[in-house]
Amino acid sequence: MGLNIALFASGTGTNVDNIINFFSNNKNINIKLVVCNKADAIVLKKAAAKNVPVAIVSDKAVYNSEKLLHFLRANEIDWIVLAGFLWLIPSSIIKSYPNKIVNIHPSLLPKFGGKGMYGTRVHESVIANKEKESGITVHYVNERFDEGEIIFQKSCLLTDNESAASLAQKVHLLEYEHFPKVLEKLFLKQ
Ligand code: GRF
Repeated sequence: MGLNIALFASGTGTNVDNIINFFSNNKNINIKLVVCNKADAIVLKKAAAKNVPVAIVSDKAVYNSEKLLHFLRANEIDWIVLAGFLWLIPSSIIKSYPNKIVNIHPSLLPKFGGKGMYGTRVHESVIANKEKESGITVHYVNERFDEGEIIFQKSCLLTDNESAASLAQKVHLLEYEHFPKVLEKLFLKQ
């Protein structure tokens, strides 16, 4: 049996790759599929290389959420994990998966979150704002971008000459180290 997890991602998928590796020998947690909204996303290759099935969804399929919900249920998905998925999750899906949808954001929310705050823009804003620290936030997903209840945060310090690229690297390392462990704790708590 075990829990079935769907990873939603549309970018390079380094977190997806890391999560798949982390749970690969776990008999109770199955990374069942990767849902992606970009037909040419690098994450698709990463998932395929690990033999994790992928589903490419159009905006219509996501926002006609009955269809997506049906698909998730047909695959007996228990948890949804967003790792670089930029679209808002429709409320019918949020209601069908109460406290079972989790996102990772590359800043210390509530700072530097919200619509359009993703990727390098987040790190550029952190630097422009002369922040002393940044980090990662794992949070539940609600109907608004990056506003769901915070589950976990970890910070890192910025150096005086920090660039968006170097900060992105630091933040990614924090994500690789902590995100799978935070997920494991959450999954096993239920
Ligand atoms: C991560 O930095 C995550 O915080 C954000 O999207 C990025 C995805 O990176 N939500 P990758 O595709 O896993 O490399």
